[in-house]
Amino acid sequence: MGELLTPLETIAVLLPAFVANGSPVLLHKKGTPLDRGALFIDGKPLLGAGKTFEGLLIGVAYGSTMALLFSAILGSFTIAILGSLAALGGLTGDIFGAFIKRRLGLERGAPAPLLDQLDFYIGAVLILYLVDIKLDATTVLVLAILALVMHRVTNKIAYKLKLKDVPW
Ligand code: CTP
Ligand code: MG
Repeated sequence: MGELLTPLETIAVLLPAFVANGSPVLLHKKGTPLDRGALFIDGKPLLGAGKTFEGLLIGVAYGSTMALLFSAILGSFTIAILGSLAALGGLTGDIFGAFIKRRLGLERGAPAPLLDQLDFYIGAVLILYLVDIKLDATTVLVLAILALVMHRVTNKIAYKLKLKDVPW
């Protein structure tokens, strides 16, 4: 496509990834692990119990809903498709982040600065890049900073609501 998105369109397609990444916490730590308890060749969990089928589903559902909402507001169905794609990319990035954390020997939920905050964001931006979408560069940078800041705030809220055991 090689399509160049405006700053507003860039926000509209990337915000669904934020929603998709944040919504699985509503599962209260329940759900069937994607790796079904499997270990990697290093003897450590492949992904760990914090990445579940249900989390993936809830993320896709909430992320696509947000994408549809933005597409209706902007009057462009392409936004719905790209937003849903970003949500999928975000969830994939978070799973890849967990894979890396397990390889580093970090337990589920142990903090991994930058990786925890940016894994989903990099996944979302990357998947759009792969389908040849040119996002507005400044907006991508500003939203990256938002991802860094928001992670702290939302995790504190999730901790206070007892959705998470630790405030990070
Ligand atoms: N979650 C899920 N399925 C996913 C992603 C997240 O069920 N695909 C849920 C899990 O309950 C997880 C919570 O959302 O504990 C918060 O997600 P995240 O902060 O990414 O996981 P962590 O608990 O930090 O685990 P990890 O160290 O594996 O990243
Ligand atoms: Mg994570």
